[in-house]
Amino acid sequence: MSASPAAEPLIAVRGLAKSFNGKQVLRGVDLEVMTGETLVVLGGSGEGKTVLLRHMNGLLRPDRGSVWFSGQKLNDLDENALGEVRKQVAMVFQLGALFDSLSVFDNVSYPLREHTKLSEAQIRDRVRELMRAVDLGDGRVESLYPAELSGGMRKRVALARALALRPRAVLYDEPTTGLDPLVTDRIVGMIRSLQKQFGYTSVVVTHDLKSGFAVGDRFALLDQGRIRFAGSADEVRASSDELIREFLRTAL
Ligand SMILES: Nc1ncnc2c1ncn2[C@@H]1O[C@H](COP(=O)(O)OP(=O)(O)OP(=O)(O)O)[C@@H](O)[C@H]1O
Ligand SMILES: [Mg+2]
Repeated sequence: MSASPAAEPLIAVRGLAKSFNGKQVLRGVDLEVMTGETLVVLGGSGEGKTVLLRHMNGLLRPDRGSVWFSGQKLNDLDENALGEVRKQVAMVFQLGALFDSLSVFDNVSYPLREHTKLSEAQIRDRVRELMRAVDLGDGRVESLYPAELSGGMRKRVALARALALRPRAVLYDEPTTGLDPLVTDRIVGMIRSLQKQFGYTSVVVTHDLKSGFAVGDRFALLDQGRIRFAGSADEVRASSDELIREFLRTAL
């Protein structure tokens, strides 16, 4: 799963600062996501993890600093060009963000209808393939509505929709929060197998280091608006950083 030694950063964040209503959330974040790796971003609630992710696919614009995708500086792009980037950098939102009034099938096929010229038959095939990839391939779920799904199923449908356009990178915002341990293990297993199968570059935001260890190649800790620590699982385990030790205690 780990990136090759000659790996290039697919996503780079340099000196990123962002405030809302005068409150500074990010104060100079430097972070690279190497091609093919799974980077886990840890941090407490409200530290700005979601805000950081939303900069990585251009949903937010920096106050200061820059964000790069595949050598392209996102700061300079207009909405159209950012739309193209978002097709390649998919985001699985913290709360799933499915369209409540659309069936599962219509949710998953939505990006295909919006952004491709696939025929109805091709769309059906692709939705089947995506539903299989998230272990919902028996055809029974497609006609259901989001309100009829369990939390774990909703996350998987959201994941299928995020993968519809075959992105190069996937940003997961708290993919396991609020799920019981069994479903958490299942989602973690799915993120790993999708990563293996398709070679996505992934960023997984979580405050759950246990599931972080199960998916991540590398780990970064966001604290008070900056990256306080970045390193491998072994470096996390060996760290004497107080906050890292605290995360470690919750991962036992
Ligand atoms: N669009 C926005 N407008 C105003 N404030 C915002 C906006 N987005 C985020 N914030 C603020 O930025 C801070 C960081 O929010 P963020 O959602 O990134 O935290 P988080 O680390 O993802 O937390 P959690 O673990 O609870 O999801 C919070 O104080 C939040 O209120
Ligand atoms: Mg968040």
